[in-house]
Amino acid sequence: MQARGPLMIEHRLIERMISVIKDVVTEIESKHEVDPVFVDTAVDFIRVYADQTHHGKEEDILFRDLKKKSLSTEDQRLMNELIEDHVFGRQTTKALVEANTRYRNGDETALAEIADNLKTLIDFYPKHIEKEDKVFFPASRIYFSDEEDQAMLPEFWKFDRKMIHEKYKSVVEGLET
Ligand SMILES: [Fe+2]
Ligand SMILES: [Fe+2]
Repeated sequence: MQARGPLMIEHRLIERMISVIKDVVTEIESKHEVDPVFVDTAVDFIRVYADQTHHGKEEDILFRDLKKKSLSTEDQRLMNELIEDHVFGRQTTKALVEANTRYRNGDETALAEIADNLKTLIDFYPKHIEKEDKVFFPASRIYFSDEEDQAMLPEFWKFDRKMIHEKYKSVVEGLET
């Protein structure tokens, strides 16, 4: 498997989550309510899986190695754009968490903000994924030898292995405070 394989497999799970979120947004619009626990679950998926685990591997391993290569102007531009996309995803998730807290505390006006931020994520992720799958991943592959490409795989597994420990360490820390 090429190094981009695991990243593309992760994209498929993110797409499935986006599809679930899409159905919930339709429900919010017809019922004018949301289950804050669903929002918590979506946020947990986006933060821990899509951002820390998936974007984490892209930024800390793939992009890190690409930064050592001399990329074409277009590939460099696209990599910068992908990094900015990741930041945008984090900001949207933060706004979603804040709106969910307000909603949970009885502020019904926060429902529209929850729906807006969920819609932003529904719109954002498929476009981001398509840029990577169809354009950036194939284009950036040419900068690596087969050995360099394959060397990323064990690093990805190592990165993944530490995530479960970080996740539950943060759960305990959250309960302690
Ligand atoms: Fe990405
Ligand atoms: Fe990605």
